[in-house]
Amino acid sequence: NKVALIMAGGSGTRFWPLSTNDKPKQFLDLVSKKTMIKETIDRIKKLIPIERIFISTNIKYLYIIKKELPEIADRNIIFEPMARDTAACIGYAACIIRKLYENSIMAVLPSDHLIKKEKEFLDSLEFAFKEAEKNKIVTLGVKPTYAETGYGYIEYVDRKKSKDDKNNCENKERFKSYKVKKFREKPNKELAEKYIEQGNYLWNSGMFLWKTEFILHEIKKHMETHGIILEKIEEMLENVDLNEVYGERLSDFVKDEFEKFEKISIDFGVMEHTKSVSVIPVDIDWNDVGNFKSLEDIFPKDKDSNVVQADNFEQIESEGNIVINKENDKIIATIGLENIVIVNTKDVLLVCHKDKSQEVKKILNKIETKN
Ligand code: GDD
Ligand code: MG
Repeated sequence: NKVALIMAGGSGTRFWPLSTNDKPKQFLDLVSKKTMIKETIDRIKKLIPIERIFISTNIKYLYIIKKELPEIADRNIIFEPMARDTAACIGYAACIIRKLYENSIMAVLPSDHLIKKEKEFLDSLEFAFKEAEKNKIVTLGVKPTYAETGYGYIEYVDRKKSKDDKNNCENKERFKSYKVKKFREKPNKELAEKYIEQGNYLWNSGMFLWKTEFILHEIKKHMETHGIILEKIEEMLENVDLNEVYGERLSDFVKDEFEKFEKISIDFGVMEHTKSVSVIPVDIDWNDVGNFKSLEDIFPKDKDSNVVQADNFEQIESEGNIVINKENDKIIATIGLENIVIVNTKDVLLVCHKDKSQEVKKILNKIETKN
């Protein structure tokens, strides 16, 4: 009864010019020779058989996804007619999955993260599936290292302080699940700093496990309008054979209802309000590969701390740069250059200060308004 849902409908452009709206991060081969989404599937299929791995994405990625993932059956690709963020994505997918499998437990995973410790990850998921059998939301939490404002923060109740538990700790399982006191999505800098200082907070890795029935129940409970739309969709699906109607056809079929969803993430819509959450701290060498600067934590550096993902790079007295050219074998040469990101593609040459990596979006907006 274990299924995986991989969310691949995000449209980030933080890796422009490598990524674009037509080809967001999940479809890039950023961290290996494989695309991020392929990496995600290859990882999870070691635990969940391929027939029970579902992908949910926007209809506009129909061709890219079919080309990229030939091993995923058409029936298992859930197309959303328009972008409505992750609460709608999860709610809608849950309606479909519950029709296909009785009493299923879903692992909901992002499609664009790097996880270096694969075995540890799979083991923790196995433990998480067991936890999710109790009626609750289970999250995987990562130990925070700085006050990132782009993540969710999970305040958990540290039971280690109680004496009983100390005794338990010795011979218990490798993983532990803690009750979550509060979930806070994308706090401002000040709050994030406070959380880090306080210590009993973890980053939300964006991976969730729950009974399919339970998450539907929670969405309906905390998101009234989403609940109404989902009930309508469930009703519509009642007389549909999902082994026959899927893909574009299904997307068309639900379009008018789906359109009514408000754009809101599961983190803001459910996680911040529900009381039934547990977190499992994991040590899986996780990286959400948020912008060019994050590549520094992923790739080895040359003797001058440059990250080089280009065949022909030559430098003199250049330090701490990130150089990417996957397009051709053009020589890239730098002299006395520090902390700069250089990305060469067929149409674009981006040169940007490393500490301004977050702002790539802005320049793209500027270019788009001009054209
Ligand atoms: N199918 C579908 N439809 N997928 C979507 C949609 C959508 O409308 N919107 C986003 N996704 C996918 C993205 O492709 C990504 O794999 C995943 O859902 C998460 O969405 P993001 O937009 O990347 O979320 P985030 O990074 O801002 O925040 C989430 O992840 C953080 C960790 O990286 C939150 O869960 C945070 O709490 C968390 O810390
Ligand atoms: Mg993300």
